[in-house]
Amino acid sequence: MESQCLKLLTTIFTLLVYVASSSTSCDFPTIFNFGDSNSDTGGLSAAFGQAQLPHGETYFHAPAGRYCDGRLVIDFIAGSFGLPYLSAYLDATGSNFTYGANFATAGSTIRPQNTTLAQSGFSPISLNVQYYQYSQFHSRSQIVRARGGVFRELLPKNEDFSRALYTFDIGQNDLTAGLFLNMSTDEVKATVPQILDQFTTIVKYIYGEGGRSFWIHNTGPVGCLPYVMDRLPITAGQIDSVGCANPFNQVAQYFNQKLKETVVQLRKDLPLAAMTYVDVYSIKYSLIKHARKYGFMNPLRACCGHGGKYNYNRHIGCGAKITVNGTQILLGRPCEDPSVVINWDGVHYTEAANKFIYDNIVDGSFSDPPIPLKMACHRQAH
Ligand SMILES: *[C@@H]1O[C@H](CO)[C@@H](O)[C@H](O)[C@H]1NC(C)=O
Ligand SMILES: *[C@@H]1O[C@H](CO)[C@@H](O)[C@H](O)[C@H]1NC(C)=O
Ligand SMILES: *[C@@H]1O[C@H](CO)[C@@H](O)[C@H](O)[C@H]1NC(C)=O
Ligand SMILES: *[C@@H]1O[C@H](CO)[C@@H](O)[C@H](O)[C@H]1NC(C)=O
Repeated sequence: MESQCLKLLTTIFTLLVYVASSSTSCDFPTIFNFGDSNSDTGGLSAAFGQAQLPHGETYFHAPAGRYCDGRLVIDFIAGSFGLPYLSAYLDATGSNFTYGANFATAGSTIRPQNTTLAQSGFSPISLNVQYYQYSQFHSRSQIVRARGGVFRELLPKNEDFSRALYTFDIGQNDLTAGLFLNMSTDEVKATVPQILDQFTTIVKYIYGEGGRSFWIHNTGPVGCLPYVMDRLPITAGQIDSVGCANPFNQVAQYFNQKLKETVVQLRKDLPLAAMTYVDVYSIKYSLIKHARKYGFMNPLRACCGHGGKYNYNRHIGCGAKITVNGTQILLGRPCEDPSVVINWDGVHYTEAANKFIYDNIVDGSFSDPPIPLKMACHRQAH
């Protein structure tokens, strides 16, 4: 009770200091995003083949480069600033980078993987590669923009790199990459320092190029996702009251605790940066736990998939088809109404769930410091 009171007072104090020092909304002209499928708006699709329907069916009514029926959290974030949805850096066709660029690809990890996409399913566009692309984009966009004409209408201004919001949602695949190699949870935990060292390196590089506002999502409860529960051995005693695989969620929580410490250290090391750590894990877990209260059904069952306990089959994914006697049959079928389902395809969240997550992070109630998204350019007073 006493510690809760103290926490509340600290929060109020932080807010007061913060309101006194800076009450103006941040006018982010651009967003640069780094991540995996949770925020990929077309990177993997552009490079390795399109995410086929029914991906995109709800909102875009066509494939839209997203592993989702509709929009992702990053889409709602862009929308909240009145910015258009981010073009994927790798998408050479029809992209407009005036308001930023998205370097995320589905399957990306923080650490470079030593396997190919075909071998393991993990993207070669790891965080360091995303940074190389960003860095080239930063310098080359200015050379090309100086040519004038249409390039002035496709590329950001130089000052919009330091005024940008830099968003991160990456790390989940570093954990599952280890788990899928049959590493024990302790072995995976032992890789976390190396993963976060790499994260630190990249954030410092971006800061070195003028980045100042960082919005960092932690990783979600992987132990509640069908693709993890279906693929990895779990004993009955390891299932929690919600139905999730507790040991794998513990790995995610361990990563998150260390990520939070990493962000604290980055604040010290990068004196001009505003760094917000966002506890997406708690929102996702609470959504799954209290699904019914929030208007959702069967929180552990994928909307789009093929059979089994979780409507998930590793070999017959969402949108998978077979041809029988010259007729195509859709085996990885979507459910009737994705708007009442949390999990889209066994790996990713539905648009409805993404909207729920966005609604909870936008006001800062799951952030450290507890400031709203539109204030994320203000460095917290110490
Ligand atoms: C890839 O191999 C290098 C060199 O052996 C190693 O240091 C690194 O940890 C490996 N990466 C992963 C993700 O296992
Ligand atoms: C890119 O988007 C911006 C903002 O909507 C717009 O002003 C510009 O005309 C667009 N560029 C092109 C070539 O359509
Ligand atoms: C992990 O263990 C499972 C079950 O024993 C086995 O089928 C699979 O091949 C192993 N995977 C790796 C990458 O060693
Ligand atoms: C495909 O056609 C063959 C020959 O007409 C028939 O025997 C078979 O049952 C058909 N298969 C399916 C799945 O309809």
